[in-house]
Amino acid sequence: MSLPRTMVTPMADPTPAERIAELRDVINRHAEAYYEQDASEIPDADYDRLLRELLELEEAYPDLATPDSPTVRVGGPINTAFAPVTHEMRMMSLHNAFDLEELAGWSERVERRLEGRPVPEFSVELKFDGLAISLRYEDGVLVQGATRGDGAVGEDVTHNVRTIADIPNELTGAPPVLEVRGEVYLTLSSFAALNDRQRKDAEAAGREPKLYVNPRNTAAGSLRQIEASMTADRDLSFFSYQLGLVEGGPELETHTATLEWLGSLGFPVNEHTVTSAEIGDVSSRVEALNAMRHDLDYEFDGVVVKVNDLRLQQELGADAKAPRWAIAYKLPPEERTTTLLDIEVSIGPSGQATPFAVLDPVFVGGVTVGTATLHNQDQVAEKDVRPGDKVIVRRAGDVIPEVVGPVLSERAKGSKPWPFPTDCPVCGEPLVRPDGVAATHCVNFACARQVRGRIEHWAGRTAMDIEFLGEKNVDRFVTAGLLDDVSGLYSLDFEAILAMEGFKEKSVDNLRGAIEASKEKPLGNVLFGLRIPEIGQVNAQTLASSFGTMDRIIEATVEEIAAVDGFGTVIAEAVHAWFAQDAARALVARLAVAGLTLEAAQIDESLEKTLDGQAVVVSGTLDGFTRDGAKEAIVARGGKSPGSVSKKTLALVIGAEPGASKVTKAENAGVPVIDEVAFAELLDTGQLPEEFRKEEKDA
Ligand code: IVH
Repeated sequence: MSLPRTMVTPMADPTPAERIAELRDVINRHAEAYYEQDASEIPDADYDRLLRELLELEEAYPDLATPDSPTVRVGGPINTAFAPVTHEMRMMSLHNAFDLEELAGWSERVERRLEGRPVPEFSVELKFDGLAISLRYEDGVLVQGATRGDGAVGEDVTHNVRTIADIPNELTGAPPVLEVRGEVYLTLSSFAALNDRQRKDAEAAGREPKLYVNPRNTAAGSLRQIEASMTADRDLSFFSYQLGLVEGGPELETHTATLEWLGSLGFPVNEHTVTSAEIGDVSSRVEALNAMRHDLDYEFDGVVVKVNDLRLQQELGADAKAPRWAIAYKLPPEERTTTLLDIEVSIGPSGQATPFAVLDPVFVGGVTVGTATLHNQDQVAEKDVRPGDKVIVRRAGDVIPEVVGPVLSERAKGSKPWPFPTDCPVCGEPLVRPDGVAATHCVNFACARQVRGRIEHWAGRTAMDIEFLGEKNVDRFVTAGLLDDVSGLYSLDFEAILAMEGFKEKSVDNLRGAIEASKEKPLGNVLFGLRIPEIGQVNAQTLASSFGTMDRIIEATVEEIAAVDGFGTVIAEAVHAWFAQDAARALVARLAVAGLTLEAAQIDESLEKTLDGQAVVVSGTLDGFTRDGAKEAIVARGGKSPGSVSKKTLALVIGAEPGASKVTKAENAGVPVIDEVAFAELLDTGQLPEEFRKEEKDA
């Protein structure tokens, strides 16, 4: 396996001795931040890689191995603010496996040491991401809680441990001396609640909130408070997973039996531990646990596999740092560091300017990440990431990759905060960010990106559905000056297109046919295709069926638009303002000349207005009408057909496979739910058949 030299700018061709010295130095620096200040600067995965490289070098050059190397040291130096506690039984670390092959290699070594005896059974459990502690009980009373420290000497945190609700202060049926080891951690919900509180407090005091970075560091920091009341405030949790020194007590034969006994004494033991005799099954279990990674209310960064038989554990023993009978399988990292090569701004189809990070590609969360969004100007400023920085990149589960922040200790001297560009990178016009709004926009209607964006949207399947006009063609036609707005599609110079590379008679005919067919698309699609602010697919259909014609929409007042079911003034003002623009009206006029469908239905003026002002909602497939046809029939009779049911709805017409939520809503609101036959009668007479009429309420 080749390991990247993350976080170390390698010297040119260092000798093994130089590289070893360099690695020890960097590892010690990061270990200090992690263990002493409870603030890891780099992800664990990067730290592990550095340690692994050092270990491999020391194995290759045994002369260069030293007893104080971080590869033999457990944990970090201890804080003198706490009284030292010498562990009667050392608190060891665990060796790591980074893939299933290394896991299998470990189990083979175990078997070899056991010299031909039957393959042992394994206990497979979660590796919790918190802080290891040892709890000492004498005659059933908690007398001491200590951190791991360097494995031999830890810190006395008894006063804090007593505040943790998961940890019993007294035990019944305990032996004279009992040491219980386990992990103190913070649940994700407590972590979120803590940060919520930080936000609220900061808001009340009118300052920027100081947020906790992750649950592990917060748990570690909370346990190592001088004041116990500070620890009590943090809602820490605990899982027990191991015994230390025990005097008296039951004869236990397996690790599983140990866990059961701990549980019976009142200690929390994790529910996801299983035993298995097959290393193949162990591997599947590891993968199953990995899949649960984001389903639990606490973090785990690996799986610990332990030989279950305690006598075999004794026999296998330990080396200077860790037992041979256990291994920690590290789950693929979700955080890694890499270099932020640059910050660029992309202009979206609506003109929104979004900054994004260009990264030295890094494998994280199971994929290679080369770019990551930085969302908006405030986010870049808040994270203060700068081109050239080493940054932490996170990709957890299916969540999009994010840049967590810079590694400040690695920042080049003299670096400056990144300035958000003042001009659009596409058209060069000034970018605009209104007060109180997070997003920055290019507002140049003629900006090539927006022109392309509007045409791409217009051609989309849910709008005018123009096949053969993909993003690439739009880009080519706009660049070639053949197209500058959607109406231009209806007078495209197909001769010029035929002359372009890659086009033949057939492909040009296909395109022409698809553009021609779009003229038949109903008004609702045209409205959606225009990208009017606030007008998505559903609102567009509602607008079309409520007003019936484009002209009526253009002429409508804000009040009339706001009266449409489900609209209100915000949407109404946006629609009204859009149609008030000269450019918008001119565009609509050009579309009319091109022959697009700008009326929802042939409004047959001779039809009686049986539904004048009434709202009838249609859901599901009807036999005698298309979806639009049914709405048009309603509009033609003076009614409207909004997309959703409200108290004011006259009736909900249902065909095959109606929307369940509409039916429930109608039932709850006491709106009659009618079939197609009743619908026909309603259209004719404006009356519901007897059986569907709302019961008259007594006044
Ligand atoms: S057993 C001698 N089991 O991992 C073996 N450790 O890298 C002692 N850890 O210091 C550890 N979950 O903080 C064990 N289920 C688990 C664990 C676990 C998390 C931590 C513990 C330990 C570190 C070793």
